[in-house]
Amino acid sequence: MKLLAVETSCDETAVSILDIAAFSAHMPARDFLNCELISSQIKLHAPYGGVVPELAAREHIINLPILIKEAFDQTGCQTTDIGAIAVTRGPGLKGCLLVGLSFCKALAYTLKVPLIPVNHLEGHLVAPWLTGETIHFPMLALVVSGGHTLLVYVASFGDYKVLAATRDDAAGEAFDKTATLLGLPYPGGPSLAKLAESGDSSRFRFPPSLPADTRSFSFSGLKTAIARTVKALDESGETQDPKVKADLAAGAQEAIVRQLVSKTVETAKELRPHLVTLGGGVAANSHLRHRLNEELMKGRFRFLVPPPRWCTDNATMIGLAAVLKLEREKDSYSAWTQYPAQGLGPGVPFNLSADPRLHL
Ligand code: KG4
Ligand code: ZN
Repeated sequence: MKLLAVETSCDETAVSILDIAAFSAHMPARDFLNCELISSQIKLHAPYGGVVPELAAREHIINLPILIKEAFDQTGCQTTDIGAIAVTRGPGLKGCLLVGLSFCKALAYTLKVPLIPVNHLEGHLVAPWLTGETIHFPMLALVVSGGHTLLVYVASFGDYKVLAATRDDAAGEAFDKTATLLGLPYPGGPSLAKLAESGDSSRFRFPPSLPADTRSFSFSGLKTAIARTVKALDESGETQDPKVKADLAAGAQEAIVRQLVSKTVETAKELRPHLVTLGGGVAANSHLRHRLNEELMKGRFRFLVPPPRWCTDNATMIGLAAVLKLEREKDSYSAWTQYPAQGLGPGVPFNLSADPRLHL
């Protein structure tokens, strides 16, 4: 039995096919992942300097059926092989979510299989598990994306306690807004990270926005500090100097990473989890991966981060969360299959609100 997983919460249309029959926990994804496709909309949004929600939704309408057909062609999978469909239900851009949800709901209805709605953040949270490393609970998960910055205590799959969130901007937003201030192309995070590679992070030091003993994150003060620095440098004409721009990028990246690392390590020291994981688009940042690993090693913590393709938005993480749900709720799965005509399991809400366990 196969599971079709779909992700359309922002500007990536993503489809994966997972082999439910081959799946067992602690297995590397290559053993149960049949196909993984992503269609990026970078070129479409680049002229606007950010994602245009309406354009993104329309693009999903065009791309989603093409990707699903391609996934079926590549794997030789038939519609009769599909035993369940997983889809991101939120959080994300409403129009984009509606495209994925409506499409999957109609397909589930037609194929008479259950539809499993997945919280996008839960997908990012479990993405490190795709590596196949043994997962020991309790676990501390840092989830850093374009819209969220969460530190989550994970007692087991589905049992979450959000320990900290951002008071203002998300970590990804801090990267993106800094990139815009420096006139870098969309997508801002990777552009800033690239420029920072040639910069000296000690030239511009941006102080933390919140005291060290506060667990919450905050990045809006950093944005203001960078904006002021850029304005002053613009007036003196120094931002024309590529070296100055690279040093600014490195200083900003260092300030964002320093805050994420210090709060995560402090929390880990306090709670002594058996594993610390990193996920979400910002987890693709090599400086963050390196610094967090370095600091956690000093405290002898186990650390796990997935390869970059499973940090940024993808459907495989949505599929994994759904398969884990199916495993946990085997009884309700058989109940769901009794109600195929609805295309939804009994009691599964069709709405865009995030899962309350990860909702703030
Ligand atoms: O998880 P994601 O792909 O989408 C959301 O769920 O938001 O995360 C997107 C965010 C964006 O803010 C993007 O700039 C950031 O992740 N990002 C990065 C890098 N790659 C993506 N930030 C810093 N360095 C990167 N290499
Ligand atoms: Zn995401």
